[in-house]
Amino acid sequence: MYLPTCLPHHERFTVLVQVAAANLRFGEGVTREVGMDFKNMNARKIAVFTDPNIAKLPPAKMASAIASLEAQPDLEFVVYDRVVAEPTEASWRDAIAWARKEDCSHFLAVGGGSVMDTAKAANLFSVYKDADLFDFINAPVGKGLPIKEKLRPLIAVPTTAGTGSETTGTAILDITSMAFKTGIANRAMKPILGIVDTLNTRTCSRELHISAGLDVLFHSLESYTAIPYNERTPRPSNPILRPAYQGSNPVADIFSMWALRTTVKHLPRIAKDPSNHESLSQMMLAASFAGIGFGNAGVHLCHGISYPISGLNKKGPQFKYPGYNVDHPIIPHGVTVALPAPAVFQFTAPSSPDRHREALAIFRDTTPSDPSITAIPDNAVGAHLYEAIARFLDALGVPRGLKAVGYTKADIPALVEGTIPQRRVLDLAPGIGDVAGEDGREHLTRIIENSMEY
Ligand SMILES: [Fe+2]
Repeated sequence: MYLPTCLPHHERFTVLVQVAAANLRFGEGVTREVGMDFKNMNARKIAVFTDPNIAKLPPAKMASAIASLEAQPDLEFVVYDRVVAEPTEASWRDAIAWARKEDCSHFLAVGGGSVMDTAKAANLFSVYKDADLFDFINAPVGKGLPIKEKLRPLIAVPTTAGTGSETTGTAILDITSMAFKTGIANRAMKPILGIVDTLNTRTCSRELHISAGLDVLFHSLESYTAIPYNERTPRPSNPILRPAYQGSNPVADIFSMWALRTTVKHLPRIAKDPSNHESLSQMMLAASFAGIGFGNAGVHLCHGISYPISGLNKKGPQFKYPGYNVDHPIIPHGVTVALPAPAVFQFTAPSSPDRHREALAIFRDTTPSDPSITAIPDNAVGAHLYEAIARFLDALGVPRGLKAVGYTKADIPALVEGTIPQRRVLDLAPGIGDVAGEDGREHLTRIIENSMEY
């Protein structure tokens, strides 16, 4: 990667970035190849992860994967179908105990982010048989230890166009005792192959398409506006300590911007007509591309604030999002990320007005050189982008702020407290992560206040 030549020679080497691409197979019906993939790898025994809904469901998803495994003679596999939507410590521990007992040589995840993330954790802890969950969870919540052992090969088959988990080494869980989400982010956990089958989202509900698509939207927008890789933490003392989330960088930018443009174009079309196959296919690709973008650059404030929004919901508002077939309170991840988004980008816009202008142009379906965009002074870009994002969300039927999902002003301090420990993402937040000695408490309070309603 080319680095600014104005820096003295020794400093140039303090700002390196390491970009990991993803191994993806994209197309209609590609799920049926997965049995051959495992056969080609001489798999001894495969742990198949899914959730109870998918396990019951139609031919295009689970049955296709299972049929593909069964089609290979002598391919042994066992199925874990107890993955819960928005996994918790308890659900991870259950999956880990199962995986340790089964001792499989390979892993297959067929599902959304919850399934893929649970499979990653089960893989990690079946290699580290004696480790505790918190040994690898991001510091400061856990110890954030480096992963030095080689994990077992995991193939991921996403069934939502959302998390991009098939391209990343990230796995997220809800720490119920602390009422926020965090996770493990480490390249070692990345699937060896993502099988992106455009048939696999066709049976999703309209609500699921939208909430998953919102995750894609903000993965791309957050990674494009994260603190640049060459303005953040110093070079780690050992490459194994280099975080996966390194700040915006020229390679991640390409993936993030493509995903942003694609999502702004196709998600509203899916909301109007969930059977629009062309748009569904484009969103699957956008989810994976955004995954490559944020998997290397990182996400920041929308995600950081979303973790206590979803965690506290179980104690506080107990909001049950319509269209979700679960028996516990849930605000889907994509919606929790979207709720603070207008206020977040209003806050971050002054840090890089041109990047925010580019995003604004996409929402307005024009180019950054359009005089209506170039005429906006730097200090007004944030207000325009706030308005553009709010309109976009409103047209998709997203609740208009935190009040609409049951939060009140009295919850603001708890939401701030739940965001402060999300250092992994706050460190990438312009205006917070780059201000030495500040934990960003005042800014976060203002952003959350401004997210109550719009
Ligand atoms: Fe996300």
